[in-house]
Amino acid sequence: MKQKTSIKLRLLLLIAAAFIIRPGFSQTPVITLNLANANTNVSPMLYGLMTEEINHSYDGGLYAELISNRIFKDSKTEPEGWSLVKDNPSAEAAIKLIGAEEHVPNDERRNAINGAMQACLRLTVEKADGRVGIANEGYWGIPVKPSTTYKASFFIKGTARTPPPRWPWEPKPTTPELPDIENNTAGPITVSIESNDGKTVYATGTINLEKSIYWKQYEVNLTTAADVTPTKDARFVISTDRVGVYYFNLVSLFPPTYNNQPNGFRPDLMQMLVNMKPKFLRFPGGNFLEGPKITDAFPWKETLGPIANRPGHNGSWGYRATDGMGLLEFLEWTEDMGAEPLLAIYAGYSLDGDHIDAGPLLKPYVDDALDEIEYVIGDTSTYWGAERAEDGHPEPFKLKYVEIGNEDWFDRSKSYDGRFNQFRTAIEAKYPQLICISTISRKQFPQMKYLLSKTPEVVDEHYYRDSWDMWENASQFDTYDRNGPKIFVGEWATREGAPTTNLNAALGDAAWMTGMERNSDLVIMSCYAPLFVNVSKDSVTGKRAWQWNSDLIGYDALNSYGSPSYYVQKLFSHYLGNKIVPATAANIPMQKAPLSRRDSAEGKAPKSVPTIFYSATMNDTTGTLYLKIVNITAKKQEVKINLDGNGKVAPEAALIVVKGDKPSETNTIIDRKRIIPETETIKGIKKSFSRKLDPYSVSIFEIKTSK
Ligand code: AHR
Repeated sequence: MKQKTSIKLRLLLLIAAAFIIRPGFSQTPVITLNLANANTNVSPMLYGLMTEEINHSYDGGLYAELISNRIFKDSKTEPEGWSLVKDNPSAEAAIKLIGAEEHVPNDERRNAINGAMQACLRLTVEKADGRVGIANEGYWGIPVKPSTTYKASFFIKGTARTPPPRWPWEPKPTTPELPDIENNTAGPITVSIESNDGKTVYATGTINLEKSIYWKQYEVNLTTAADVTPTKDARFVISTDRVGVYYFNLVSLFPPTYNNQPNGFRPDLMQMLVNMKPKFLRFPGGNFLEGPKITDAFPWKETLGPIANRPGHNGSWGYRATDGMGLLEFLEWTEDMGAEPLLAIYAGYSLDGDHIDAGPLLKPYVDDALDEIEYVIGDTSTYWGAERAEDGHPEPFKLKYVEIGNEDWFDRSKSYDGRFNQFRTAIEAKYPQLICISTISRKQFPQMKYLLSKTPEVVDEHYYRDSWDMWENASQFDTYDRNGPKIFVGEWATREGAPTTNLNAALGDAAWMTGMERNSDLVIMSCYAPLFVNVSKDSVTGKRAWQWNSDLIGYDALNSYGSPSYYVQKLFSHYLGNKIVPATAANIPMQKAPLSRRDSAEGKAPKSVPTIFYSATMNDTTGTLYLKIVNITAKKQEVKINLDGNGKVAPEAALIVVKGDKPSETNTIIDRKRIIPETETIKGIKKSFSRKLDPYSVSIFEIKTSK
């Protein structure tokens, strides 16, 4: 009995020893690339951008306008963003929002400038005693930079105040009549950018207000001195020292814009996008396309022409959109980046769940989409093509893909099949060269059996996941049916970190992108979302600028930065060949995800994911090979890389790495370059070579090969 036990014990010890010493025997991971068989094309449209008005992406973001609530429509009750300025406390003055409420009395309504600008701001000065005016706080501040010229413009009129005429039989007012104010308003009006306490004036100018009861638009340039210290703690002020009643509308202030375009874009943000080399831009949404209600859908026709004709509309993310970024600005933005538009058209379903059934009621919406497409690609002999020329862009834009709606899997009315097909039939009949994208994929939503009687050519799949989910599903496209529709991954992100993502999210993204890249015969386009976030939260009202955590590019009024995910996007797009290199791997260690309390209570097994992810593409003209490898662990991991094929390999290569010490490491508006790519030249590249991958890293090898 005793002997039996000791044999058992020895056996057990042996087995245990085998487990303990196993790491010593663990084999090096091997990635083998078959260079000779790099025949499948990488989709030429693989990496693009997705955009919508969320997190103050445009107003307070890319759109360079610095004045918030410029046509006073943001609130029906308050002149949001505006305040009264009195240099001397003895001054008697007040500001009031005019004509913004639902039912506007006639005496106020007559201040409307046009159908877009019906509300305005009134400044009443009874006693000036120095400078009195109106101030705008901007979008979480006005950015002040040295040697910079800002273009200010605004509509203004100055009048007198006399009591309104009354019929003799009308009852007398219960409150005392306000005293008359003479029309002393004509004369110089000062315009300035100054510190919030008014003590430092960074730039100033004047306009000469004419004596007139009619609105007139004035313009003035304001230039800062060379020795100004950059700040965003500044305001924009229009002021007078004369009593009178002043009305203001469309108050605008533009800093220099990208390529000096009028009504243009913020140069730092544009440059970051251009550096990503996007192949397409999906716009205008996202939820922003649909609007909370059917009446809030993106009103593309009202976004055209001079900004004075744009009323703006209710956005989908809790604030009003100026529509300064209108359809033409989206198209020109796309063109400036060297990309193609991927136009999302409103398809009769909005976020609160309302929809329009296919059939005659949907026809006006289909016609509207056809008009919109004509605006984009019609030549100048067409009605909307001529409008585009009139707006300053005679050349038709490029367009291949039109997306019908957004995330219609939320539509529980089962109407998408009919809606999609009605749009598709009409669009294909007029524009056979266009490809209509469905927002529902049967593969992603197999339970939605009623969907899409006719298989669409391309379907849009969205994936917002945590890093473990990304790592677990990074190979999901390996097994997709190649006879089904092509895949557009129109929104996706690893959602970790706020407001912008952290290194762990970037590792999730990179792993996921290796899967899309390896399968880019099927995944023809992809774009991360959301693209932009204004990270400001320190306003007077305490209202923060963003609604969605985990975004790609962060900024405030003054500065901008890329998240670690941004750099991964940029590198993946930059270092990309035109052929997929078949790759296999062996000995990749696996890693178990920690179990959540809920999962352990439910007895679920932990997820097991690979610790290394990879993809390879090649440029068949230059022979450059791009190998991307992601190490998601805290340890250095050695990998052996085999380059199979008859060709030669240059002994030196470029290695570009994004890495950090901790998964939670990140960039912020204060610490903007903590995680950025590092490039080095590495030696010893052969047909078979080894390399230790840094912990928590994304490595891109740029290797020269020749036949
Ligand atoms: O990207 C943020 C939102 O996520 C988009 O507006 C919407 O399409 C999705 O639900």
